[in-house]
Amino acid sequence: MSASNLTWHDSKVTKQDRQKQKNHQSPVLWFTGLSGSGKSTLSVEVEKALFELGIHSYRLDGDNVRQGLNKNLGFSAEDRTENIRRIGEVAKLMNDAGVLTLTAFISPYQEDRDQARELFEDGEFIEVYTKCSLEEAENRDPKGLYKKARAGEIKGFTGIDDPYEEPAQAEIVVETDKLTLEESVDRVVSYLKDNQYI
Ligand code: PPS
Repeated sequence: MSASNLTWHDSKVTKQDRQKQKNHQSPVLWFTGLSGSGKSTLSVEVEKALFELGIHSYRLDGDNVRQGLNKNLGFSAEDRTENIRRIGEVAKLMNDAGVLTLTAFISPYQEDRDQARELFEDGEFIEVYTKCSLEEAENRDPKGLYKKARAGEIKGFTGIDDPYEEPAQAEIVVETDKLTLEESVDRVVSYLKDNQYI
């Protein structure tokens, strides 16, 4: 159900005012990849590196957000889509607030990522694909979830019996099974510097 009879209220402070005050842009770094591909690990380190550079940033992570804002959602295709829709909207608010946001969600469906991208102005949505083979992610299995999925204890697990659609247009591809964590962080931070986001 869509809302009606609503009026948009503009603020007297704009996004540009906030960005100017902070002296950096506020894009979203949208990390996407298989479970165990390194989204959380990499985004945590990038956030730390940005903090040390004086960048006002904030990280939204699937496992965390699903314990609060999205605790009524499961892993059906419909719920994943709603999960990503809400995160896109939250990231958009953060973007307007002048905060550089990092999101770490599997976000397995191209269409959902494209919908999130649509919310932003050109250049403000930076898709970061933590590329890693299923074999490697399954070897890592940090939470033992692949093992459970293979045993049939978890149904609809991404990469096993639910699809992961590889990004067609990721701005940054980080091959986490080839690069060190330090190199991966550097790749993301350099992208932000080289393109004058920070
Ligand atoms: S999604 O697809 O974007 O809505 O998923 P996300 O919000 O990122 O949540 C992924 C984390 O939830 C755990 N988990 C599962 N992942 C995939 N498929 C199924 N069925 C599932 N059930 C639980 C898992 O810990 C994921 O965390 P990461 O960090 O990706 O390993």
